[in-house]
Amino acid sequence: MTVDGPDSVDSPVEAAFAQEVARGEPILEVRDLVKHFPLTRGVLFKKQVGAVKAVDGVSFELRQGETLGIVGESGCGKSTLAKVLMNLEPATGGSVRFKGEEISRLSGAGLKAVRRNIQMVFQDPYTSLNPRMTVGDIIGEPFEIHTEVAPRGDRRKAVQDLLDVVGLNPEYINRYPHQFSGGQRQRIGIARGLALKPEVIICDEPVSALDVSVQAQVINLLEQLQGEFNLSYMFIAHDLSIVRHISDRVGVMYLGKMVEIGSDLEIYEHATHPYTQALLSAVPVPDPSAREVRDRIVLTGDVPSPANPPSGCRFRTRCWKAQERCVVEVPLLAAPGWLSGLAAHESACHFAAERGAEGSGEPGGQGEPKAPGEPGAAGEQPESG
Ligand SMILES: Nc1ncnc2c1ncn2[C@@H]1O[C@H](COP(=O)(O)OP(=O)(O)O)[C@@H](O)[C@H]1O
Ligand code: SF4
Ligand SMILES: [Mg+2]
Repeated sequence: MTVDGPDSVDSPVEAAFAQEVARGEPILEVRDLVKHFPLTRGVLFKKQVGAVKAVDGVSFELRQGETLGIVGESGCGKSTLAKVLMNLEPATGGSVRFKGEEISRLSGAGLKAVRRNIQMVFQDPYTSLNPRMTVGDIIGEPFEIHTEVAPRGDRRKAVQDLLDVVGLNPEYINRYPHQFSGGQRQRIGIARGLALKPEVIICDEPVSALDVSVQAQVINLLEQLQGEFNLSYMFIAHDLSIVRHISDRVGVMYLGKMVEIGSDLEIYEHATHPYTQALLSAVPVPDPSAREVRDRIVLTGDVPSPANPPSGCRFRTRCWKAQERCVVEVPLLAAPGWLSGLAAHESACHFAAERGAEGSGEPGGQGEPKAPGEPGAAGEQPESG
């Protein structure tokens, strides 16, 4: 898929390709992944008084050759998830398998080999590149550790090839980051990510800091490279609109949990989790006739602290469908048995239903929204336009 406008529709060929990809073998399998940051008190004798539950039991898989978009508001644990997958932060619990091999507790040579295969492109091309290093040194730095990829004598040529691959002039090899624009700097970050010929690239909000006009160019470059080098991408964003163009599947995170995951069609056209529906309602719809059916859901209340998340369903303090059950029972991420067709994808909601279909089939038919102010209720406040 290429970026050709916010209202682009997949062609049948693209849709068939997306389905083909969806059947790919898992390259990364993540099970019950947990990352808690301890909260301590005291200076000399540090005492743990709690924990920030940044990632709290997340399971999903990334399939060979696909792009999995990961979306959620700031602070929901996306970057922490990426860092744990990269082994930049140790996991508190759970399992990460790369091609079937457990990697979350590796060290030494095993860790080094995996690090080569899973690379990251960071959000901010202004701060993620060392201003005192030349572009050639930045891109070629990974070769210092993985000398087997490019022996010393071949490095200049290898870096120039990488510059060429990302659409930069190979003669810029001796320039410094400040001599490039934001989009060019992100191309340098991507070239560095490609240097070790990884199989998986985790892109953590790679275009969020760029101008809208430049975002599409960088996304198109990532898509082109994916085909060329058979890459699997995890593409993190805080906004559902950016991810749509590049993703084969999308996972939605809220407060350290994955709340819904499915193919791009399942998520964008048949979302069943209230949080996803609220995020989608905020995505601008260019077609005025479609605008009428997509009234905006305004979420009230703040995102709770991940150090003290709500009991039961973590979204319940902002959910207009919340019931007593949501207070006491954690909803599991699974395909709800009462849904069928494209709605029957994984959703962590006791009352999962497509928008407009509430009360028509979910267990007990408890689709009646709670009035704002009742326990656990926020408010669905449709705004026209
Ligand atoms: N090193 C850390 N120590 C303590 N808390 C952290 C640390 N890194 C992240 N957090 C907290 O974990 C939560 C998730 O953060 P993050 O993964 O950066 O979210 P996102 O990338 O979705 O914005 C936030 O509440 C953040 O403050
Ligand atoms: S209906 Fe209940 S389980 Fe579903 S999202 Fe709302 S609070 Fe969570
Ligand atoms: Mg982040």
